[in-house]
Amino acid sequence: MTSIKNLKVVLLCGFIVLLSAWIVMGTYSKVTGTSEVETVNAAADDYIGSDSCKDCHEDVFKSFSDTKHAKLGKLDNWKGKPEGCESCHGPGRAHFENGGDKTKIISFKNKNSKQVSETCLSCHAGKESHNNFRRGEHWRNDVGCTECHTAHGPDHGSEKPGSITFVNGVSKENPNTATTAMLKAGEPQLCIACHTEAKQQFNKPFHHKVLEGTMKCSDCHNAHGGFEQKQTKLSVGADAACIKCHTDKQGPFVFEHGPLKTEGCTACHTPHGSNNPKMLKRSSVRQLCLECHSAISNVDGGAPQAPHNQSTVRYQNCTICHAKIHGSNTSAAFFR
Ligand code: HEC
Ligand code: HEC
Ligand code: HEC
Ligand code: HEC
Ligand code: HEC
Ligand code: HEC
Ligand code: HEC
Ligand code: HEC
Ligand code: HEC
Ligand code: HEC
Repeated sequence: MTSIKNLKVVLLCGFIVLLSAWIVMGTYSKVTGTSEVETVNAAADDYIGSDSCKDCHEDVFKSFSDTKHAKLGKLDNWKGKPEGCESCHGPGRAHFENGGDKTKIISFKNKNSKQVSETCLSCHAGKESHNNFRRGEHWRNDVGCTECHTAHGPDHGSEKPGSITFVNGVSKENPNTATTAMLKAGEPQLCIACHTEAKQQFNKPFHHKVLEGTMKCSDCHNAHGGFEQKQTKLSVGADAACIKCHTDKQGPFVFEHGPLKTEGCTACHTPHGSNNPKMLKRSSVRQLCLECHSAISNVDGGAPQAPHNQSTVRYQNCTICHAKIHGSNTSAAFFR
């Protein structure tokens, strides 16, 4: 921690010197990017380039070379910014010239997950998809960037142990599931390694085919956090994630069914999996409906009481008549 602070002080001084130089020379260039990136210019001499790390850290160098991080220099807006190993580990000349003195390089060994994540966020926070990371449950629970992503790119050779390989396992023969976005393992193995309860839910008789590989946890969740409950991608009222695939439930309908607009799909469905057909929260449709449409709960959300004689068999299968239960353009009672 202190070494970072010291470094920052050094870099800041350098920045001020450089800035004065600019002003003296009368050149004013538009400063984009973060101050951090600019400051790093100042100490340019201390940087030595990734190639000089190659001989002593061959394995890291090799897997790193395949990642996007190894190609930052090719980005249009990357002129003069630190590249390669040194973009995270800081200037490497001193470490290099002292035969690999490990006190002369930024190390992450003694840093906690939040500190490592901060390093990543120093570049990545500007991206909309990561801005909310500090708002999410993963940050709060010390699940940092490198819990899910490899720092140096995938180790193409490694087998993941035990249960996380049971579908689409990452292996020598099949490394690709893990290489997406430098993930340590493909989805859903990555997620269910920690979220065992979710794995159980997706094993229930009626479920979304996540474990089968047809869809991913990140179709519905934002691993990087967000404003919404349970880090879902369901924007309030619209249920964006569900609607993306179930477009026919989108509306707007002339006659909306209240709970779809207020609570959303999860008012009636269990999104991961369920013992009940259609992933309903209750074992029978009738039971589900009557929880809102009975005399007792009449007041709740303004749901009118079902006007039927419930002892008549005729009225027990509610959606035989009220077939357009997700909304209708022609029938206020959702008949068609
Ligand atoms: C002359 C060989 C040599 C070169 C060149 C070299 N290193 Fe090292 N590096 C070492 C040795 C030796 C260690 C200590 C390993 C240990 O103690 O486990 C080390 C350790 C490290 C560590 C881990 C520090 C820790 O223990 O937590 C990092 C990070 C690192 N080097 C990065 C780099 C980078 C980046 C470069 C290129 C700028 C580089 N090294 C170049 C030899 C070298
Ligand atoms: C995107 C940031 C980033 C870049 C770029 C990066 N590293 Fe690392 N490095 C880390 C982090 C974070 C760790 C801590 C270990 C971990 O979480 O995997 C680490 C750990 C290390 C270690 C300690 C041993 C180990 O594997 O744990 C060495 C050595 C090392 N890096 C060398 C390098 C070299 C050499 C390069 C360039 C070829 C490089 N790093 C590029 C972030 C980075
Ligand atoms: C020096 C700035 C910088 C730092 C520090 C940094 N990144 Fe990146 N990272 C980038 C840029 C820029 C890209 C996009 C490259 C591109 O689009 O070609 C990127 C891309 C990525 C990608 C996408 C890779 C892919 O194949 O699509 C991941 C994942 C990632 N970074 C994770 C991390 C993690 C984890 C850390 C911290 C250990 C980290 N980054 C630290 C600048 C950085
Ligand atoms: C809980 C696991 C998890 C954590 C923690 C995590 N990520 Fe990711 N990340 C993913 C998954 C899964 C994907 C691919 C699916 C997606 O795009 O949402 C991804 C994709 C990415 C991408 C490429 C796509 C994009 O959005 O640009 C980048 C860059 C990235 N992560 C950076 C980071 C950084 C930086 C951190 C830490 C601040 C981080 N991630 C923390 C799981 C995680
Ligand atoms: C079809 C969309 C969808 C998919 C796919 C999905 N989730 Fe969810 N998940 C949700 C919704 C919606 C909630 C919120 C449920 C609620 O509020 O009742 C949720 C809740 C959660 C919760 C909080 C659980 C709790 O009891 O509070 C976790 C953890 C979670 N999901 C993890 C995962 C993991 C891990 C995967 C992949 C294996 C996954 N989800 C796949 C939609 C999905
Ligand atoms: C290293 C372990 C780990 C990994 C890997 C991981 N998570 Fe988590 N996740 C946690 C912890 C710990 C929490 C906070 C406690 C909890 O709610 O279970 C959490 C919370 C969540 C929540 C919020 C639950 C809530 O109650 O608000 C969701 C959603 C979630 N994770 C989804 C995912 C997805 C999707 C992935 C894969 C891309 C993933 N997680 C990977 C450990 C992990
Ligand atoms: C990535 C696309 C996708 C997303 C996102 C998605 N679903 Fe699905 N859903 C499917 C597919 C495909 C099926 C049917 C095939 C199957 O068994 O997997 C399905 C099935 C269902 C079923 C059961 C249908 C039946 O006939 O048994 C319900 C209910 C359902 N989804 C609700 C939801 C809800 C609620 C959400 C949001 C939390 C959601 N879905 C998000 C793709 C998606
Ligand atoms: C008021 C309760 C309720 C809400 C809220 C609700 N559903 Fe349903 N949904 C049902 C019932 C009941 C069925 C079963 C109908 C049947 O079996 O006749 C069903 C069936 C389904 C089916 C399978 C049959 C079909 O029509 O395709 C899908 C898919 C589905 N719902 C998706 C969604 C999505 C997506 C949302 C959110 C936009 C949602 N549901 C919100 C009650 C609801
Ligand atoms: C979570 C509570 C909830 C559940 C579950 C629910 N409803 Fe509703 N329903 C409402 C509310 C609230 C309204 C009034 C909404 C409005 O008009 O905006 C409504 C309106 C209706 C109406 C239209 C009444 C009218 O004439 O305006 C019918 C018909 C209906 N529901 C049938 C059903 C059936 C059948 C089921 C079971 C598949 C069901 N509902 C499940 C809350 C619920
Ligand atoms: C045989 C067809 C049929 C079945 C089955 C049926 N209903 Fe109805 N339902 C109707 C008719 C007809 C109306 C009156 C519609 C109108 O007023 O336009 C109605 C009206 C309603 C209303 C609106 C009451 C109001 O005050 O606006 C609700 C709520 C309702 N039903 C709920 C249910 C529930 C819950 C079930 C299952 C227990 C069910 N219905 C089963 C035919 C049926």
